[in-house]
Amino acid sequence: MPRLHFSFTWCIRFLSMPNLKVLLSRDQITKRVAEMGAEITRDFQGQSIIFVGVLKGAAIFLSDLARQVSLDATFDFIGVSSYGNRPTPKEDPAGHAAWDSLGEVRLTKDMDQSMSDRNVILVEDILDTGLTLNYISKLVLAHQPRSLSIAALLDKPSRRKQPIQARYIGFTIPDAYVVGYGLDYAERYRNLPDVCVIEGP
Ligand code: IMP
Ligand code: MG
Repeated sequence: MPRLHFSFTWCIRFLSMPNLKVLLSRDQITKRVAEMGAEITRDFQGQSIIFVGVLKGAAIFLSDLARQVSLDATFDFIGVSSYGNRPTPKEDPAGHAAWDSLGEVRLTKDMDQSMSDRNVILVEDILDTGLTLNYISKLVLAHQPRSLSIAALLDKPSRRKQPIQARYIGFTIPDAYVVGYGLDYAERYRNLPDVCVIEGP
């Protein structure tokens, strides 16, 4: 008879697991990402593009999207974080603190290459208040790219604080906190293959 060994920390972790409900299945995501890739391929036929992924949430989306695009393409990455002290998840049981943009965005990793005269596609996991992409768009536009488009897997238009136009949107979702497929809650759940709504972490 095999002996099951549960450590104390494992039990605590299991008991504090939040409820995860699938909002978008891996099959839905695969299908939609393929459509977005085909659209980008059509729009930039005969030209080269550069994908600029917003770390870390867009990493999985970018790697899937890029493989659905049949164009001459290169990658770059940019890192940003919202400036200021956030309350901890314990101080905000509803979880809003973990993602509410605090109004100021700070660059943590600049792009490695010049965007000058390039067809830039900014790749982001989710478009929420719009503050992050507005900030990044301004940085890219200062390089004078040939074109700048935004590809976001998810869009929560009801949360918008600053207007922003994304040319490619995967799914429009309601105002719920989601994790998986690159999206995190306190750095966890990025590796879930589906996009899930997180309830009561
Ligand atoms: P914005 O500046 O408010 O548009 O914030 C965009 C960033 O907030 C995204 O890149 C995500 O990192 C994060 N974010 C917004 N909503 C969610 C969510 O539901 N789950 C996980 N991260 C989110
Ligand atoms: Mg992000």
